[in-house]
Amino acid sequence: MRAGVLARAGGRQNGTMQRVLSGIQPTADSFHLGNYLGALRNWVTLQDTSEAFYAVVDLHAITVPTDPEVLLERTRTSFAQLLALGVDPAKSTIFVQSQVPAHAELAWLMQCITGFGEASRMTQFKDKSAKSGASNASVGLFTYPILQAADILAYSADVVPVGEDQRQHLELTRDLAQRFNARFGETFVVPEPLILKGAARVADLQTPTAKMSKSAPPGCLELLETQQALTKKIKRAVTDSVGVVAYDPQEQPGVANLLEILAALTNSSIPEVTGQFAGSGYGALKGAVADAVVSFAVPVATATREYLADPATLDDIMNAGAAKAQAVAGAKVADAYAAMGLRR
Ligand code: TYM
Repeated sequence: MRAGVLARAGGRQNGTMQRVLSGIQPTADSFHLGNYLGALRNWVTLQDTSEAFYAVVDLHAITVPTDPEVLLERTRTSFAQLLALGVDPAKSTIFVQSQVPAHAELAWLMQCITGFGEASRMTQFKDKSAKSGASNASVGLFTYPILQAADILAYSADVVPVGEDQRQHLELTRDLAQRFNARFGETFVVPEPLILKGAARVADLQTPTAKMSKSAPPGCLELLETQQALTKKIKRAVTDSVGVVAYDPQEQPGVANLLEILAALTNSSIPEVTGQFAGSGYGALKGAVADAVVSFAVPVATATREYLADPATLDDIMNAGAAKAQAVAGAKVADAYAAMGLRR
């Protein structure tokens, strides 16, 4: 069954390697620690065992009002950060979504098989449109998860490494792939999300019940921030009045978040890191977290600046990635057009 799907899915450069696709939005001046621990570190490991496609998804970024100059700048910085984090163009196809027309083309086909009610149930739209009210949000923000489904399905991805907040979008993607295949014949691979335990949902340092997000800077650790800024935010992280370092996400969410960050950055288990602070207070824990974050983030920031200082090379990597991506995704979109009875 699987072999049949794959044969029909086509386009594999090597028969057995799994395909991976993921994306990240260029909606901030810097990625944050949640992006890295929830998703990007998996991107780096997966490129050794998979045929990987990684996108800076700028078409997703325009679903909210965006200044064109700022978007171009952030797209470049995002791309440079991926390289700095170890996403390697010799191993993975790294590209900018808007340079690959197949995404927008397939998104339209997918919109035409998505129910309005089904799209209305996406909780991220509800969250993101809450501030301005749903009637002021763009239709693009509403259909955004369908573009995400197209991103994934265009590459016949088996696995999609993401943080916990993307689970519902992955469910929609699976439903759309199955629906398309049932109506029009086996065309798409039904992908699996890969959501790592441990740091799948890094919390905001000021509101540890919320996820870390660029929209709340005081609780967000940005990878391109200075050492001083990172340390200050960690020292100010909200904890509790219990006063004992223990891993209890319900009663002590702030402390649990710090322990999760430390465990993830030092490749340790939660019991191991918790054990290190037996008998010490929150200050010692925060100091260790600050050291771990700073020693991870500062070299990433330096490497990002180096990539940005060589725009010609960055352009070459972007253009080469886009060409490779379009070759794969364009072929799949052609299959989908044909399956739906479009002449093109
Ligand atoms: P985005 O750009 O918001 O986030 C990029 C990745 O970071 C993860 N993430 C987190 N993980 C743990 N804790 C957090 N606090 C945290 N905040 C963000 C996200 O889960 C994501 O994996 N819709 C996607 C982008 C996208 C995409 C795709 C992803 C577009 N097309 C295709 C996968 C496949 C998004 O907005 O991610």
